[in-house]
Amino acid sequence: MQKNKIFIKGIKQFDLFAQPLQLLIDKKEYHQTLFGSILTVLLLALFSNLLYQKIVTLFDRSNPTSLSSEIYHSQPEQYSLMPSNFTMTFSFQNSTYKTYIDESIYVVNAYMVKKNVKLQNGQKADVYEKQELPLVNCNEDLIKQKELKEYFSHIDLPTNYCIDWNQIPSIQIQGTFDAPKFEYILIQFNTCTEQNKKSQPCKSQKEIEQVLTQNYFSFQISSQTTNLKNPNSPYQPKGQDVFTTISNNIYKEISIYLEPLTTITDVGLIQTNLEYEKTLRYGRHTEMLDLSQSDLIMNVAIRLDTTEYVDYRTYPKIQEILAELGGLWQVLFSLFYIISKPINKISLLLELINSLYEFKDKQHYEDNSQQKDSSSIIRNDKPGSPLQRQLEQQQVQNCQDQIVTNKTLSIKENICNKQIQKDRSYKTILQTYVQYLLRAVFRKNKKMKFGYINAFQALRCIVTKDDDNILQFRSAHKEIDSQLNIFNILKRLQDVEKLKHIIFNENQRILFEKFNNIPQKDKLEEQRLYCDQQIKQQGVTQDAILQILSDQNNQINQKLIASLDVTVSNLLQKCKQDNNDNLEKN
Ligand SMILES: *[C@@H]1O[C@H](CO)[C@@H](O)[C@H](O)[C@H]1NC(C)=O
Ligand SMILES: *[C@@H]1O[C@H](CO)[C@@H](O)[C@H](O)[C@H]1NC(C)=O
Ligand SMILES: *[C@@H]1O[C@H](CO)[C@@H](O)[C@H](O)[C@H]1NC(C)=O
Repeated sequence: MQKNKIFIKGIKQFDLFAQPLQLLIDKKEYHQTLFGSILTVLLLALFSNLLYQKIVTLFDRSNPTSLSSEIYHSQPEQYSLMPSNFTMTFSFQNSTYKTYIDESIYVVNAYMVKKNVKLQNGQKADVYEKQELPLVNCNEDLIKQKELKEYFSHIDLPTNYCIDWNQIPSIQIQGTFDAPKFEYILIQFNTCTEQNKKSQPCKSQKEIEQVLTQNYFSFQISSQTTNLKNPNSPYQPKGQDVFTTISNNIYKEISIYLEPLTTITDVGLIQTNLEYEKTLRYGRHTEMLDLSQSDLIMNVAIRLDTTEYVDYRTYPKIQEILAELGGLWQVLFSLFYIISKPINKISLLLELINSLYEFKDKQHYEDNSQQKDSSSIIRNDKPGSPLQRQLEQQQVQNCQDQIVTNKTLSIKENICNKQIQKDRSYKTILQTYVQYLLRAVFRKNKKMKFGYINAFQALRCIVTKDDDNILQFRSAHKEIDSQLNIFNILKRLQDVEKLKHIIFNENQRILFEKFNNIPQKDKLEEQRLYCDQQIKQQGVTQDAILQILSDQNNQINQKLIASLDVTVSNLLQKCKQDNNDNLEKN
């Protein structure tokens, strides 16, 4: 049993969410103000707006962070060129830049060349395999890339060569010249001769030479542009053209390099989840010239480039956005806190001062007293003195007048009866005294309240002359500061302890310690709130005072009266003694 308790106590030490004990102000842990609430609403509105924007960016993915790099490959991997993503057209142009196909002048042969390294007799040897690539006069149907239909529509297609996609499904391309595996496209252009002539008989050498002087080579190929902001495929096809001069006197070797493109996208919302997209784009081309001896005019090689262009793009992840929002919240909160702090501080100070202290507004007070003078018995210019004056005047009044409640009646009778007729003057005095106390002690509803302006003036936020109000405010502020000091509070608790020792003897103390819980009246709080209203019902208050006056056997009551007015206290003492004397005589 004992062990269990210690064990649980030990475990409880780990609670990070412990609830601290706090003092309450009006049932709340904090002093809250309207200004603070408005700022809070503003802060929440601002923050939720930012939150919304962040969440939108999380899902719409229009703003990736990216970095790019170039990677060298000595053996670029294999790519397949399909009708849907590879298009190529080419032709010769005569001196007026018109494309033309005339097999009696020049003959084109295209191949897919494949190089393999094979061991022959212990020696490495390159083995080339050539496969014919079918070419035809172009037409719109052979442009299978939908995105590029528009681009190729500007070209006079029937006078250009195209790959005949009806005869081959795809073309493979990989590696480089020095790699063990090398696949590329080779297009050879020859002048028409007896050996290589195709469907048409060749024109005479002279005619051919005449046509081919000042000719151009026109070449179009599909390529790609990269738009990383596009959340789907970042690649957008485009057409790329290459123009160069050709002549039958010069042999030209053109290499068109296709550059591998890769985009790596991290699409994971929480964890890394990579997606790869690969394609090829036109990279560059090189030309080599030589004096032509044979009928070969030009070789065009379409091959892969060794540098791969890689883009990495990542989108914000949920945890990153949350962390960012957390930081943002801290900053915004601190900002609003700094704005609201001074107002809330002053508001708390005002509430403390207004509810704990009573102040008299000089002017207000004087106005009131003038009104009173006309009707009242009390002279405010000499507070505390009315009884003496009354005693001097000894005006005889009826014992019964101004009695409001039945209760008052009975107490009054008590007092009156005891004092017999000779003491009628005391009764009058008592009446007057009750009235006086009512005005002097319960003047709460006439008290003045400080506002923000006073607070700003007192705290020197607004420059003004120090008037009476400001001085009152400052002294109250000072007092509250010292009362809220924990040392003062503890000191007062010690004082209570000392008082217990002074007031009670040892036996009484033991009894006192036994009443641990005196049930608090639930209504206590409400009574305080409606105090002002109750005071207006003078009868009730009169009862309270009269009861205190009548029960003069109670030492505490005696002290209370003495602390308010010594004259009355003496009077009552005397009255009591007279009573006792009377009783003894009887
Ligand atoms: C160029 O070709 C076009 C069309 O084939 C033709 O009309 C034109 O006469 C040619 N021009 C020359 C200078 O050969
Ligand atoms: C063309 O598309 C095929 C299949 O869709 C793909 O394997 C190939 O890599 C693509 N080639 C290029 C150059 O984009
Ligand atoms: C006050 O006294 C009158 C008679 O003197 C009585 O009728 C009435 O009920 C009393 N009221 C209360 C509240 O005791």
